[in-house]
Amino acid sequence: MPDAGMTVARAIRAAMLTADPRAKVMATRAVARDWAAGQLAPLFDVAMPDVPARPARPELLPPTAMPRRGRGGSARGRIALIHALAHIEFTAIDLALDAAGRFGGERGPDFVTDWLSVAADEAMHFSLLARRLITLGSHYGALPAHDGLWDAARDTAHDLAARLAVVPMVLEARALDVTPTMIERFTAVGDVRSARILQRILDDEIRHVRFGTIHFSAVCAERGDSPAQAWKMLVARHFRGLVKPPFNDSARTSAGLSYEFMAGVA
Ligand SMILES: [Fe+2]
Ligand SMILES: [Fe+2]
Repeated sequence: MPDAGMTVARAIRAAMLTADPRAKVMATRAVARDWAAGQLAPLFDVAMPDVPARPARPELLPPTAMPRRGRGGSARGRIALIHALAHIEFTAIDLALDAAGRFGGERGPDFVTDWLSVAADEAMHFSLLARRLITLGSHYGALPAHDGLWDAARDTAHDLAARLAVVPMVLEARALDVTPTMIERFTAVGDVRSARILQRILDDEIRHVRFGTIHFSAVCAERGDSPAQAWKMLVARHFRGLVKPPFNDSARTSAGLSYEFMAGVA
């Protein structure tokens, strides 16, 4: 039971400022559950942190200093890949919490419900991968991880349209494109359990991208902008990369990303 009078923003902020991975997972699930049960006041009375708390391990390295990882064939390569994915999911917990806590006041309760459900999914994804690492004889924190993942949040903290254009509609959509190949590789070397975890993640990520598309289109409609044009402009301004094929057309289509939201941003 949360404190009587606990607000949703305070609960979200506390989860973001929890460094220990297990504790962050528990805090995130609790926020999503308490919000769904109507036990958190819909008040946005504290600001979200600029940077969430991080555990002492993994060591965070700039993207250019990351050791190259293999293609997932050898046991070491598979551990490195799952570790990298676990770190992405760990960061995704905070990205979803931040969306709910930072923009929930201006967007209303349905928006908060959607992004807290995403945060709970990301906590589940992280837990599945962290548990898999232990079964494989490693653990989250055993290897260095990529430091650049929070940049997208920082660069888009001022504007929900920019946040949605980049985080769910580019970064999470990219996961739809690359995950099937990883599933095939795990299956090819007989690691069916890892393959199954990635399939579960892929199915959930389609829903996350769909939330992004729906809320982005709603913001654009209020501003009188064309979603495809606004998306191109925001991605060109805030995403340092290329949105390029091959695309997972069927997953993108079920996520509401029509062809206009795929190519053409350089
Ligand atoms: Fe995820
Ligand atoms: Fe996600």
